[in-house]
Amino acid sequence: FKLSKKALLLVTAFGAFYSANTIAATEVKISFNQSDKHPQYQALQEFGEAFSKATDGRYKVNIFPNELLGDQRASLELVQNGAIQMAVVANPLVENYDKTFTVLGIPYVYANTAHQEKVFTSGILDELFASTKKLGFEVLTAYTAGARSLYVKGAPVKTKAELQGKKIRVLQSDTMIKMLSCMGGTGVPMNQGEVYTAIQQGVLDGAENNEITYVDLKQYEVAPYFIRTEHLRIADLLVVSDMFLSMLTPEDQATLRKLAKESTVKEFKLWNAQIKKAEDMAKEKGATFVDLDTTEFQQSCKPLQEELVTTPAQKALYEKIIALK
Ligand code: GCU
Repeated sequence: FKLSKKALLLVTAFGAFYSANTIAATEVKISFNQSDKHPQYQALQEFGEAFSKATDGRYKVNIFPNELLGDQRASLELVQNGAIQMAVVANPLVENYDKTFTVLGIPYVYANTAHQEKVFTSGILDELFASTKKLGFEVLTAYTAGARSLYVKGAPVKTKAELQGKKIRVLQSDTMIKMLSCMGGTGVPMNQGEVYTAIQQGVLDGAENNEITYVDLKQYEVAPYFIRTEHLRIADLLVVSDMFLSMLTPEDQATLRKLAKESTVKEFKLWNAQIKKAEDMAKEKGATFVDLDTTEFQQSCKPLQEELVTTPAQKALYEKIIALK
């Protein structure tokens, strides 16, 4: 049985086409600590698809939600040593390596979400975000996580005095512990995955977070009083391994950076669209939202604001943020 020359050519061409299209794409793993319903997950998914498309399928982005690859602290280490390519980590975790980041998470530094969006998209953070290269990673962009408020079990706490003796979970950084003591309570640093059980078992009286996370992780079940202190708007940072970056061509790197920045704009939109829904859902499940005049907490956080902005780099960044108010 002999193939005609034409058929042979066709078979060869098909073979070449087939193998070119089956060369395994390089996997890009992103570690994420919340669910696939979260606005950041959705923004990342779009970002991943766009990057894969822009690189003709040479890269395939897979997002691992719910701390599947580890909590934020562990994920940042995996990114640093190149075991995974990217992760979303809250600003206080990066601040542990470089104190200039502290300025991005000072209590009451942003007027509102719109002010924060200006800060994240104006380019004033580019230099800071590139500066972590020496630590084995870079920050590609920042996402909003709204305003954080206190939530507790038992009964609502509305004043500094009422917060006294209350153990409130905070993110793992000194600043967050100091912040809670300025507000009158006791900050207990802990990774997110343990918070629900710790409140349930009485190790904690409550925690502090935004409405979407409160609902996403069903924490209203154990801490049904949500008090609108709105004391923080911390950035969530999309970090990328320097090892992975250095494997990319300059063009692919540029694409990755550009698409990551675009995903921030998308994430703010998704966030704003979902915040009300989250609150309604929590109420439906029995949570009580308590409005509050935040003057007392703002006043008690003032000395901390001053304590946190000391180096020339911190002062310069602080001025730039305030100027965008
Ligand atoms: C927010 C934030 C997360 C963070 C979490 C926490 O949800 O978006 O990045 O991990 O709070 O308090 O742990």
